[in-house]
Amino acid sequence: MSTRSWFSRALLPWYREHQRPLPWRSDPQPYTIWLSEVILQQTRVDQGTAYWHRFVERFPTVEHLAEASEDEVLRLWQGLGYYSRARNLRTAAQQVVQAHGGRFPADHAALRGLKGVGDYTASAIASICFGIPEPVVDGNVYRVLARVFGIATPIDSTAGRKEFRVLAGELIPPQHPGDHNQAVMELGATICTPRNPRCGECPLAARCIARAEGRITELPVKVGKTKVRTRHFNYLLIETKGGLYLRKRAGKDIWQGLWELPMIETEKAMTARSFPAALRKMHGTGWTILGLEGPVKHVLSHQVIQAMFWKAAPPKGLRPPADWTLVSRAKLDLHGLPRLVERHLAKWAEAGWP
Ligand code: ADE
Repeated sequence: MSTRSWFSRALLPWYREHQRPLPWRSDPQPYTIWLSEVILQQTRVDQGTAYWHRFVERFPTVEHLAEASEDEVLRLWQGLGYYSRARNLRTAAQQVVQAHGGRFPADHAALRGLKGVGDYTASAIASICFGIPEPVVDGNVYRVLARVFGIATPIDSTAGRKEFRVLAGELIPPQHPGDHNQAVMELGATICTPRNPRCGECPLAARCIARAEGRITELPVKVGKTKVRTRHFNYLLIETKGGLYLRKRAGKDIWQGLWELPMIETEKAMTARSFPAALRKMHGTGWTILGLEGPVKHVLSHQVIQAMFWKAAPPKGLRPPADWTLVSRAKLDLHGLPRLVERHLAKWAEAGWP
């Protein structure tokens, strides 16, 4: 720490003056900090703050969250994506209640034992709430350290992860681990941004190697971009007097536990010409296609969903599959839906089918 104490000595005063007034910072409790960190892994601060308020209002304590139904947690999480995080939140809350008497453990290893809590989240809670000097390394931290110290080791390599974690640990001042960790993240989020960093306002600019050597746009280095898979989802909009059919997604796949329109996934993109055969194969004869909308592209971290929405009239006397549920329009809001589906249902509710 001693040889690099300039880092924190420059950063902490900047943080104390310029930090954003985030609602969980005024009284950092493990429960609320944990919620904020898990939410911020999915979205930016402005949107994340709204979700954080929704969660703490509905579930003021870890006990409330532990007692919630999975459906309700998924509904509050709706729109943030990566829904296993929401399921893990509830499971971890139950672990805190059952195994730790309702108090988050003040210990990095024990925190990591909670479902969905990895090194990053455990270190954030340990340092911010318990003053334990564990390094927190997120995308912001990689960027700040790679630039300030001019490190070209790829951040997505084993060697890189190790090197940055060790360095981040060496920079922590023993008296202020929580503020220090938050300050590095804050600098990355507000000043040392991926594009167009505001070096003129950076408290570390005078020591920044990337800036001195003109390597800001080159750092940090990333090697492998993960492969993205394209999938074709064909949604069925089947309107009846009783409402719409929905189906709960099950199995180990995206959006597990969320509701969506009945869907046929196909290998290839479907057209008005090719889709009737796919529909027949899946749900029998007698269907009429009334309209279609799409393709609608929906981008996830490792998948691109190309969605088609088919408005269809079922054959007379349709016997819907066991996992279809008829949901009245008034009750659609009670169902957690992937953003892709929710957006279209909302649009049609307002403007009608095109
Ligand atoms: N991004 C995620 N967590 C953060 C934190 N604790 N401070 C600043 N930015 C963050």
